[in-house]
Amino acid sequence: MTAEVAKLRIIDLSKQLDQHNYNYYVLDQPTISDLEFDLLLEELITLEKSFPQFLLSSSPSQRVGGQITKNFETVKHQFPMLSLSNSYSKEDIMDWHQRNLKGLNLDGEQLFTQELEYICELKYDGLSISITYENGLMTKAVTRGDGVQGDLVTTNAKTIRSLPLQLKGNSHPEKFEIRGEIFMPHKVFERLNKEREIEGEAPLANPRNAASGTMKMQDSKEVADRTLDCFLYNLVGENINFKNHYDNLMLCKDWGFKVSEHIKKCQTIDEVMAYIEHWDKARYDLPFDIDGIVIKINSIAQQEQLGFTAKSPRWAMSFKFKAEQVSTQLLDITYQVGRTGNITPVANLEPVQLAGTVVKRASLHNADIIEKLDVRISDYVYVEKGGEIIPKIVGVDLSRRTNLSGIHPYASLCPECNTPLQRKEGEANHFCPNEDGCPPQIKGKIEHFVGRKMMGIDSIGSETIEQLFGAGLIKNYSDLYSLKKEQLLPLERMAEKSVQNILDGIEASKKIPFERVLFALGIRHVGETTAKKIAKAVKRIDVLETLNIEELQQIDEVGLIIAVSVYEYFRNEEHKAIIQKLKEAGLQFQLDETQLSNATEKLKGLTFVVSGVFKTFTRDSIKEFIEMHAGKVSGSISKKTSYVVAGDNMGPEKLKKAEDLGVKMINEHELRALAN
Ligand code: IVH
Repeated sequence: MTAEVAKLRIIDLSKQLDQHNYNYYVLDQPTISDLEFDLLLEELITLEKSFPQFLLSSSPSQRVGGQITKNFETVKHQFPMLSLSNSYSKEDIMDWHQRNLKGLNLDGEQLFTQELEYICELKYDGLSISITYENGLMTKAVTRGDGVQGDLVTTNAKTIRSLPLQLKGNSHPEKFEIRGEIFMPHKVFERLNKEREIEGEAPLANPRNAASGTMKMQDSKEVADRTLDCFLYNLVGENINFKNHYDNLMLCKDWGFKVSEHIKKCQTIDEVMAYIEHWDKARYDLPFDIDGIVIKINSIAQQEQLGFTAKSPRWAMSFKFKAEQVSTQLLDITYQVGRTGNITPVANLEPVQLAGTVVKRASLHNADIIEKLDVRISDYVYVEKGGEIIPKIVGVDLSRRTNLSGIHPYASLCPECNTPLQRKEGEANHFCPNEDGCPPQIKGKIEHFVGRKMMGIDSIGSETIEQLFGAGLIKNYSDLYSLKKEQLLPLERMAEKSVQNILDGIEASKKIPFERVLFALGIRHVGETTAKKIAKAVKRIDVLETLNIEELQQIDEVGLIIAVSVYEYFRNEEHKAIIQKLKEAGLQFQLDETQLSNATEKLKGLTFVVSGVFKTFTRDSIKEFIEMHAGKVSGSISKKTSYVVAGDNMGPEKLKKAEDLGVKMINEHELRALAN
């Protein structure tokens, strides 16, 4: 393909992908399948790799992430990011309305606001972000921080598909800032916590924390995987002299931003109250969290007339919802065994209507909380649904306690396998130590093993695992490799095709590289990154099996806890048998040949920062090259940087920083020479 043809195709693909992103993430009306989308994106990425001179910062390929930011740069906001005054009652809102009338010299008696229009919006519960656009391109995204300065998170923000990298049309100002709230939709939050449970990680407390934690992740690929979303609610800038807030938002919509459809113009304060009342109930039907309502004066001239206090604008007010609470009777406490053996006490309640759903069960977290709340069977308890999706018990109505209320001794045996429960020093939860014999734990380990980032056996989901385990065909993940067609076909819902898919998936997994196999084993505390580090350090499992705790700790990022866990894993007879069976099945238990034969330690002790576009490397491959030769890659330039590897179009800020600190700059050929 000639460069000219490639360029045209890149432009065409980018346009198509931008439109599909917009259709899916802003309009919620996709017109092609995910697979078709992925194929277009793959084609674009391949072309950009072959013709890196045509890779633009606004390319839809930037949304898949890949860049690592070690330390987020702190930047000062050009316009401070203020907070809002809070109100909790209708009286507070009325008082604010009266202050507005007074401040604007309007008739103090009136409830109608012909001359004072309010815009009501949802108060999205996430983290606020300020994004700068210059000549229609996203150039900067900064978190709120302390309001004066925040973290530069542009790379991560670019992965949010509802945020345009390039604006539509050309009616937008040359330069402006737009502010909004990044949030995690419920669906994503639930998926993430399910995945975390399988991987043995603690669940994220609520979508708000999850969203802000995600934006601070160093690996933008992980941010991309978490599919955050963003509503925009405010336009700022020196040259923004439009007349009113509502029209501003409608313009933002035209430029391609996601602006909520639930914004309402209110001419009377009664309408404002009705909006609040409506959303106090209807919020539970939204696919994301809100924690209140924001009311803003529409006219920009009036906004300017009222101005700001030290902390917040006088022209806006937030109304915070109360967490809804009911009282109901506690019938019983049962225990759930998680996939990692974690025990969660669950309150079984007399069914009660709360926040739009019937609640029958609530989490009681752990033994300490039960003790602290002094909850007893047949007590009347207060149940609350706040930011968290799972309702929780927040207290006991002691006035209704009777002699029948019984103290509840905490479970001593696992409800699934009867093994005595244990509790580690300093840990809140009890756990079942029978990790290889307790059904939910076995199934959890197999689910982890076949997972997307592990062995990637998509054709086996949790239902299939349940089925195979139930039929006694698998007792641990190594049994997957001896499954036969004849064993699967008689099972319910198994047709020739699905059986073949399962067997093909298992066969294909034999090619999955060593680092992922190591992650798939589900060794406690060995996550994706640690597995990679260990695989690179030991190169083959036979070596890993022989290392003692001290030797294990020599590996980068392996501390005592991980070292002990790995050591114990390989000393366990059952695990030894499993590994032996996997070895016989032909899984990859060493780094692949090219990684092994080309690896050196030539770059050991050196730290590199990579910037720009390269002719002989992709972004990922240059990093892999450095790591293969034992060098370190860092995201930002500091005194500790040994070399900046500079490609074409290196960012001006990085260039300046390298020059200021006197860090040596080399090109890709010089990097190869260093490693040879
Ligand atoms: S307007 C000058 N509108 O609430 C303040 N804020 O307590 C401009 N928020 O930090 C903010 N939804 O993160 C505004 N529709 C909305 C909002 C909203 C959520 C957040 C925002 C801000 C916080 C203020």
